Formats: sequence, C-alpha cells, structure tokens
Amino acid sequence: MQRQPFFYDITLRDANQSLKKPWDLQEKEIIFNHLCDLGVHGVEVGFPAASDMDFDACRRLSEISPSQMVISGLARAVEHDIVKVAQAIESASRPRIHTFITMSPFNMEYVLNKRPQEVRKLAIEAVTFAKNLIGKKGEIEFSVEHFGDCLDNLDWVISALKDVVSAGATVINLPNTVERYRVKTFVDMVEKVYNELPKEVVISVHCHNDLGMATAATVESYFAGAIQLECALNGLGERAGNTNMYEVAIALHNSGVTTGLDLGKIYETALVVSEMANVPIYEKAPLIGPEALAHRSGIHQDGALKTKNMEKGAYRAIHPSLIGRSDDEKIGFTSQSGKTAVFEIVSSAGYPITMQEAVRITPIIKEKAEAIGELSDSQLIEIYLKEVFEPDGPFKLIHFEKVTDELFNLGFSYHDKVYESQGHGNGPLAACLQALENVGFPQKLLHYEQQAIDEDVLGSAAIAMSIIHLEGLNGEAVIARAKDTSTMKANVHAIFNGLNIINK
Ligand code: KIV
Ligand code: ZN
Repeated sequence: MQRQPFFYDITLRDANQSLKKPWDLQEKEIIFNHLCDLGVHGVEVGFPAASDMDFDACRRLSEISPSQMVISGLARAVEHDIVKVAQAIESASRPRIHTFITMSPFNMEYVLNKRPQEVRKLAIEAVTFAKNLIGKKGEIEFSVEHFGDCLDNLDWVISALKDVVSAGATVINLPNTVERYRVKTFVDMVEKVYNELPKEVVISVHCHNDLGMATAATVESYFAGAIQLECALNGLGERAGNTNMYEVAIALHNSGVTTGLDLGKIYETALVVSEMANVPIYEKAPLIGPEALAHRSGIHQDGALKTKNMEKGAYRAIHPSLIGRSDDEKIGFTSQSGKTAVFEIVSSAGYPITMQEAVRITPIIKEKAEAIGELSDSQLIEIYLKEVFEPDGPFKLIHFEKVTDELFNLGFSYHDKVYESQGHGNGPLAACLQALENVGFPQKLLHYEQQAIDEDVLGSAAIAMSIIHLEGLNGEAVIARAKDTSTMKANVHAIFNGLNIINK
C-alpha cells in the first residue's frame, strides 16, 4: 500500500538563507500563508540562532501555524542552537527540533576536524538534549549532512543512525547536500537506510540540485521508502537550489500518488515567490516557465492543437489548469512551424481562414520568420491580411460599374496591359466573369458565398465578405476572399484576388 508523501517545505529556511536579501518577518508570513494554502504538511520556518529577525519570524509563524502542521527550526548539533529552536517554536501545535551534523568522511576530516567517534557522540548528545527539551509535545528530526557523500562509510552511518533513533529522533533526514553522483547511487543508499532502520522511523530526503537531478532523486527516493520529501518553492536554495516542490508533486501525481497538496495553487504561488525572492522564473522552467507551454515545431504544434482540450496532451506533461495556469499552450511561429500554427493563430485571433488558405500562405510566413526569427501574432496576422485580402499578382482591377441592371463595364490590367470590356449577367459576379471571358480570360467559378461581418475584426468599415472558389488552369481550386462596404465591390475584388492567387 502506498503511503501519502509528507511534503516538508524548506523555503523559509534553506531557500531563505540563499537569498541576496533574506526575508523579514512580514515577508516570511506572506510566503507561509501561501504554504498553508498549498497544503504542505510541514514547514521549516527558519534557523532561529541565525539572527534575532529569524528568531522572531520563527516565533510568529509558530503562533499562527495550523494545528495539523509540523513546524520546525534548524539547529546545529550544539545546545545553544537547540535551545533557540525550542524557544522559537514553542507555540506550534506540532513543534519539531531539527538538528544536524555531517557524517561524510570528507567533511568530518576537513571541515569539522573531528573523528567519526566524536561526531557520533555529538549527534547522540544533540538528539538526547533536544528530546529532553521538547518532551512529549514534539519530535526530533536528525539530518546526516552530506549523506550523499557517505557511500564509503554507509554501514557506519547506519549504525550511528540507530543510536540517534534510540536517543529520540523519529525523523531521519538524508540530504544530498551537494549533488555529485548518479541518482541511482543516492536512491540505493536511501533504500538501504530505510531497510535497516526500524519501520516506525520516518525517512526523509533533502536534495540539492547541483547537477539538475534533485527532482528525480527525490521522486525515486519516495518509491524507495522516503516518505518525507524536503522541497522548496520555485526550487530556490543554496547554489543551484533545493528540490523544486512543484516538480516533485506533479511527478508523483502523474504517477498515481495522492500528494495531499492543492496543486491548483502552484502557479500563483510560483509567481508570488519569484517576485518576493527577486529570482525570475527561468523561461524554460518546467511547469511554471513562461515558455513551458510553447510549441514551435510544426509537428509539435499539430499534436498540441489536436489534443488541446484533452486532459493528456500530445506534447505536455500536464493540462495547465492542473497547476492553476490559465494561459493556453502557446503556439509561437518560427521557420520550424507549419500550417497548423498559421491556422490556429489566425483563427484564435478571430479572423476567417480555411486550412487550404493556411497551406497557401504558410511558405510566405515562414520566409519572413526565416529572416527575422519568431513572429509575433500581430506580425503573422499582418501577412495573412495582405496575402488573403490583397494578394499581389499580375491582375489589377481599374474600375467596375453598373451600366444597366444587367450590363457592367470592367477595366483591368494584366501584366500592365490595360483591358476594357463589358459583361452581361444577373449580378456583378456573373457579369464580371463574362467581361473577363470576352477578352480572353475565362474562369470557372465553383462556389460563391457572402458573409456579413458583424464584428469589426476586419476593419470597422467592412460589412460584406465574399468568398469564392475559382478553378485554375491546372484544375486546382483556390479560395479567394474580399471585403468591402459594398457587396458588389467585394464580389469583384474576390474574383481578382482569386485570379492573382492562381496566376502568381
Ligand atoms: O543541505 C543540507 O544538508 C541541509 C541540512 C542542514 C538539512 O540543508
Ligand atoms: Zn540543504
């Protein structure tokens, strides 16, 4: 049976200590309220021994913390820090003292300058002291700093952890303090600890993202037995950051695990955190990046558009609404894009277009994109308006007037040679086609329709749009359109647009 993960947020401690300007009490309270809305299960509110400001913030957040939420403060394995934490979080309903010491051979030797036996003793003493202070009301988390570097002395670490558990720690946190090796190496180590410690001990992981694999290490550690997942909002934290909470939550959700979080709050939280931390969201950041829903290659655009309204999309990990994102998948037009993108961009902007027209104008739009890079929607629509409503070509309409109800005069040029002609017909369309035929330009009209334009998307003066299908000499039918305040002019312009499209 799968257990629900315990999301432990460390934004207010680990991430905060990495900010260029750490948050003050008011700022921490804003972030804390977002964490409550997200529904995280525990929050490390700070490092009370670091400064009076952090101590006060930890006190305040403990006072306002919801009763079901675990609240911790971090302490080195020294009495002074542990006392500070106990004082700062005393009003939380579920207080936790989190103490740590490194157990990696490298750090014990070169940073602590202590032998393993001394470190083990300090760890046990710190946990015993903390447990006595907090009593039955709270709990103790112990972290093996640099656990990811403990492959060579893992058996010793596990035996030390058994003593730490006997001294009163109920949560054992295994940090990848610096991510240096394979995810699998780390996860196997986590699994070994999980298998060897008593089953009632909560195994936790805390991964930094130095090689960009913190999400993977955290997610896989969950499946290897770690229930508490220490994560930070927006992946903030020392150096390349801590594990990004959103990515872990969504990866677990997609894998069928109930996260217990309100995933719909993710996007809004991300925007607030980015602004408050003064750390912009990388445009390609998974899930929350401005570009995370953009498709530019023709194949991807086609798949994305075909599955746009489905929960599972051809080229996205989630439906954006899952994380509260209301912006749709963005279709950006570059030289790699195709007809589907043209069709989507033009029609989403409210302009009339058929797929056949999109196919016709796509090479022209691509040529422009090749020259200048990605086109904005308005640049693309400008080309569409020109190519659909005023396509260049050898034919130019000079004049067209009604002489009697059935007789019309037509003047036009073809490759700069001017023609004057007359045509009969029960309407301008038929008369214009006859006038063209009379001077050697017969055309076959396959289809005609008139649309009233009630919105001013095509210019407020336009009231009529004619749509015709003309057959070219090669038998291929083209679609041509024209708009005008006069229906007669719209019809005749549509014929000339069609002629130019066929004869381009
Ligand atoms: O990265 C780390 O090892 C830590 C511990 C103090 C938990 O932040
Ligand atoms: Zn850390």
